[in-house]
Amino acid sequence: MPGARRSVPRGADPAPRPVRLRRLRRTAALRDWVAETEVELRRLVYPLFVRPGGGRAEPVPSMPGVRRYPVSDLGPLARQLEEEGVRAVLLFGVARRKDPEGSDAWAPDGLVPEAVRALRRAAPGLVVTTDVCLCAYTTHGHCGVVRHGGVVNDASCERLGRVAVAHANAGADVVAPSAMMDGQVAEVRAALDAAGHEETALLAYSAKHASSLYGPFRDAEQSAPAFGDRRGYQMDFRNAREAMRAMERDAAEGADLLMVKPAITSLDLLARARERFALPLAAYQVSGEYAMLKAAAAGGVVEERAAVAETLGAIRRAGADLIVTYYARDVARWSREGR
Ligand code: PBG
Ligand code: ZN
Repeated sequence: MPGARRSVPRGADPAPRPVRLRRLRRTAALRDWVAETEVELRRLVYPLFVRPGGGRAEPVPSMPGVRRYPVSDLGPLARQLEEEGVRAVLLFGVARRKDPEGSDAWAPDGLVPEAVRALRRAAPGLVVTTDVCLCAYTTHGHCGVVRHGGVVNDASCERLGRVAVAHANAGADVVAPSAMMDGQVAEVRAALDAAGHEETALLAYSAKHASSLYGPFRDAEQSAPAFGDRRGYQMDFRNAREAMRAMERDAAEGADLLMVKPAITSLDLLARARERFALPLAAYQVSGEYAMLKAAAAGGVVEERAAVAETLGAIRRAGADLIVTYYARDVARWSREGR
């Protein structure tokens, strides 16, 4: 009998021949050589909290390593980020004053516009994205306009349009509406265009779940809702088809990029969206994901660097082009040290 089975005695079943996947796992060089995905530094977006007043950056107690910066720190910080290889930031403002409407959010001389200008001046090559929402600026802490105890949709969208224009006027490259109002993408796009900002890009927080993992962020932003919660407008984490509808809708309304959030609880959504959309996809590794990793590392139960590489790697593998992460600077540092 010709062929490779000659040694098998006639009549006996051939011994099972395993598919030897381990051949390419044998050395680090081989593993690296065939790795399918990589978390490139250029894909990371570093969230930045800006606070009113001068003085020094203050730590956010629930997020070790994260600080709220005064505008005066941003120029030097931007240059430092560029030097470190961090290419993009996502800006969040802490309100100077809160009112029921959240009007400080669209003040032309507001904190975020000032921050955008400072970053632009210091580091013209940095991609500056801004979060567009009202929750940090409203006394009630909700993401929109409250009437009769409820968050009203269309009036909120109109306010979000104003916020986005204020950010674009200051020179933001990308604005990211995160309030989860229906039609916010269309409204923000229309407001930008009407103000002559056809070139400002729009990153849609499309599949943003109501989540227990935003707690540390609300501490940083002082943006926790004063009554109720956000489940009336943020998405139910049990729903994936609905998430696809939200992304379809936002793409149709003119989003340039789509985002899912939190990241580690949305890997299935990323994978499905990757198949379905040609738009760049972003994932937000949120404050709670960061805090969990930090706590586990501090408790000595996981090795931080490895756990960060693994979680970011899985987010990337699932289909994210961009990852918003509080670990961006650490990743930059670790990759420098690794060289
Ligand atoms: C504002 C906003 C939130 C986050 C991003 N933009 C908070 C929220 O929706 O309650 C969460 C980010 C994080 O937890 O790191 N709407
Ligand atoms: Zn909000």
